[in-house]
Order: sequence, then C-alpha cells, then structure tokens
Amino acid sequence: MKSAASLSVAAALLSGADAFWRMPCTSRTALARLDPIVDVGVASSHGHTIHGGSNFAERTSYDDLRKSECTSCQFSDDKSAYWTPSLHFVHDGGSTEIVPQIGGMLAYYQLIGTNLKAFPKDFQAVAGDSRLRNFTGPVPDPPTSAWTDDDMTQVSLGQKAIGFNCMNYNKNPEPSRYRHFLPSKDYLDENCADGIRAEIMFPSCWNGKDTDSPDHRSHIAYPNNIAGGQCPPGFETRLPSLFYETIWNTNAFKGKSGQFVWSNGDPTGYGYHADFINGWNIDTLQAAVNDCTSLSGLVEDCPHFAGSLQTQAQQGECKIKDLPKALDNDDCAGPAKGLCGNVPVQYGPGYANALKNGGHGKEPTVKPTLSSAAPVPTQSYASAKSKVEGVDVYNVQPSSAAASVYIVVAAAKPTPAYKASPAAPEPIKPTVTVAADIKNAPKTNEDGSILSTTTYTSAGTVYEVAIKEVAVTVTVEEPAKYKNRRHAHLHRKDRLH
Ligand SMILES: *[C@@H]1O[C@H](CO)[C@@H](O)[C@H](O)[C@H]1NC(C)=O
Repeated sequence: MKSAASLSVAAALLSGADAFWRMPCTSRTALARLDPIVDVGVASSHGHTIHGGSNFAERTSYDDLRKSECTSCQFSDDKSAYWTPSLHFVHDGGSTEIVPQIGGMLAYYQLIGTNLKAFPKDFQAVAGDSRLRNFTGPVPDPPTSAWTDDDMTQVSLGQKAIGFNCMNYNKNPEPSRYRHFLPSKDYLDENCADGIRAEIMFPSCWNGKDTDSPDHRSHIAYPNNIAGGQCPPGFETRLPSLFYETIWNTNAFKGKSGQFVWSNGDPTGYGYHADFINGWNIDTLQAAVNDCTSLSGLVEDCPHFAGSLQTQAQQGECKIKDLPKALDNDDCAGPAKGLCGNVPVQYGPGYANALKNGGHGKEPTVKPTLSSAAPVPTQSYASAKSKVEGVDVYNVQPSSAAASVYIVVAAAKPTPAYKASPAAPEPIKPTVTVAADIKNAPKTNEDGSILSTTTYTSAGTVYEVAIKEVAVTVTVEEPAKYKNRRHAHLHRKDRLH
C-alpha cells in the first residue's frame, strides 16, 4: 500500500500538475435571492449570481436539475447549479448597483488525488461562511510545507480556500488564492485595470455516505493543503476539487466614491461563499473524471464532452424562467436604494448577525452606511523565494510578550543573477501588491530599510507589521500549473474581446 502511494506521489511530481478541466458557464441564468440549499422554499436572505441548469428555484433537487431545459455552461449536459454572492458598488449616499460580471464564471474540476469518485446523485454543498468577517490564520500564507496545526484546521483551510485576485492583463497573473480579502477601492482603482477575480475552492474529501448535512458542510472536509494533501479521518473518499472563478469589473467604478460590498453585506471578502448542487449524469461525470486527464483544462479536449459543447450565444440564452412571485419587487441589479433583501452592511470583525430569509421583495429601507472606521485589511504580500506558491512568509519574530513582528517583503527586485545564467528558467516575475492597503505607507527607501509599520488585530492578538523592501534572487521554475493557468487567462481574454 505504502509503496503504491509513494509511486503515485512520484508520478504526480513527475507530471508536475494535476489534470483538470474548467467548465465555462459564460452567462448567468439569474441574479436573484434564491438559494435552494440554505433557504429552501423561501426567498434567500441575499442575492446571488446563478449559473448552470435552468430548473433552479426556491426548491431544487438533483432530479429537478437533470430535467432542466438548458444550461448556461458549455457542456450541454452539465445541468449542475453553481452560485455565489454578487458584487455591488455602494455609492456615497447609499445607492447601490451591481458590478458588471465579466464572462460568467468558470467551474474548475481539478482531479487531485487518487481514486476519485464522481459527485453522487443528490450531492450538494456550501463552501465558505457568509458571516465571517476576519481572518484567523497567519498573514500572509506561509508555504504549505510550513503549515502548522493551526493553519490546517477546517476553519483556517476554509478561509485560505478563498481568493481575490487583482486582474491586470498587462502584468503577470497572481497565483490563485493569493489574498483572502477584498482589496480596498483605492487599491482596486490603482492596480486592477481588469477587475477582481473572486475564487473559492470546495472541500474535496467526502465521508462517502451523506449527500448533504444540516450545515451543508460537515459531510465534506478540506484536505490539509486545500488543493491536495491528506483527507481527515472519516473523509477518505476523494471527489473532484471544485473551484469557482468569477470576474467583476470593479474598474467600471474607477474614480467614483463609495465602496464594494458583496450581496450578503460583506465589504471584507472573508464572508465570501459558494454553493453547488450536482446536476451531472453520474456515469458521464465518472467517465470524465477517469479520462479527461489533459493538462490543457479545455473541455474541448475531453472526449466525453465532444459533440455536446454549446457556443457562448447558446449559453447566454439559458435563463431561469418564472422567478418566484416573492421576488417580483426585488431589484438586485439596481441602481437601488440598498442591497436586495434589505441586507445591512456588516464590517465585523466579529461574526456577523444572521440575515433574515423569506419575505417579499420590498424597496430596501436599510441604507448601507459607509463607515470611515471600517477596518481595512492591512496585509501586504510577499512574493519571493517560494518554490511552489510564489508567495513566502518571513518568519514571525516575537519581539515582546504583547506583540509579534512579521517582516513582510513589500517589494521584491530580482537581482540580475538569473539573467546571467542561460540555463536558468524564466522566473516568475514577482507579482507584488505593494503596501497599498497600509495607510500612509511612505515611499520606498532606497536602502531597503523599513518603510513603515502598522498594526492589526487577529484573534485577539495585536500584531505589528514591519514592511521593508529587500532584493531577492528568483530562481524558481514556473510550475506547469501556472503556465496552464496563464494560457487559460489569455484564452479567456481572447474570447472576451
Ligand atoms: C473573528 O471571527 C471569529 C469567527 O467569527 C470570531 O469568533 C472572533 O471573535 C472574531 N475576532 C474578532 C477580533 O472579532
């Protein structure tokens, strides 16, 4: 057993990447307060952007989805339902409007691990927690090889399974799940010309028997590296690792004053979440899981999808018909006086109050208040030295009982060393998010001395963050995964223009 496992690990290392396909669902079927997993039979507490099978309502079962007339995804027989909160812009003064969504969403099916099982009939799940408003792990993520038990609790893994990537096609892409919070409006304006990509990975370890659970989460668990690693005891059945990407064109609001808020009233991003109801023919999905091992990720390269791929126009025609009457007066897209469902903005850092579901769509009466005291995440991100993640952490050095100091590399300049060596592979260019989230950060010091310090609070501990610039030599080889992903994004961009 052991040697077989080592062999498959070796094989995975040799191939350098896990197989995957990404299912484009290029338009949404609805923007509405519906959530047939969490708010069954009633209007959901908050709005969602919904993709996939057309038979989606306040109550939706596997069998309902299979009977969908159409799907907004590229493979015409994937009738699964995929949904997440939508992103809204709250103008100063409180009026809200939807942020334009670019290209629908992509649902990645990553084939990580061995002996993968297709999602069973009736399988459904939620990833993330709508009420979270702070981050409980170390900042930034240490490399997975250095993760402690605290980094690998299910809550901590769940928080690191979320990402918000600054999109700028003139720069190298950031690695997936690079930061776990929604950057500030100023940061987005300044750096993210092509918007923000929200990302979330579902747990891929299953207890092998329950297709749902009372909290819609505890029948599944994250492996200890999120995208790989070991499943916890009792959750040994490996499912495909489902990963959603959705791009929002925050740049459409460049220069306007206000802020971005998720439809569940979350301005931080920590409460981002996602839902899935399986709508596959199980045999087809199992065959794809077994055979669609192309590293390209293209659905066109999977023989089981051949002949049943839809054009973007066909995907765009698929809409949810007959939204429930209770939603008649909802205006989730706006411009409106607030978020649909009358959702208040809750900044945290404490666990947010539960939102009310049900009710009839009414003009929102809760004006979202923009608080200047809103906590702005203060993390800055390193990008050097790491062999795998493109992100590294510079050791926590406890300086006193009360405060620990993180040395965070705020900017990384590759030295010419790698250029001098013709054998050196093209390095990953550091994708640096300079201390933009840190208020009043002074300009770069030429000598690499400390630029600034700032403090933040996490789990009751006050941390002092010292930011300094260092020169680093980047000698890592770009992992094949990133090459594929970059290809994916270029491909996606091409299709969009
Ligand atoms: C951070 O969130 C957790 C989980 O919701 C909560 O228990 C904790 O009190 C929060 N921390 C702070 C400082 O509010």
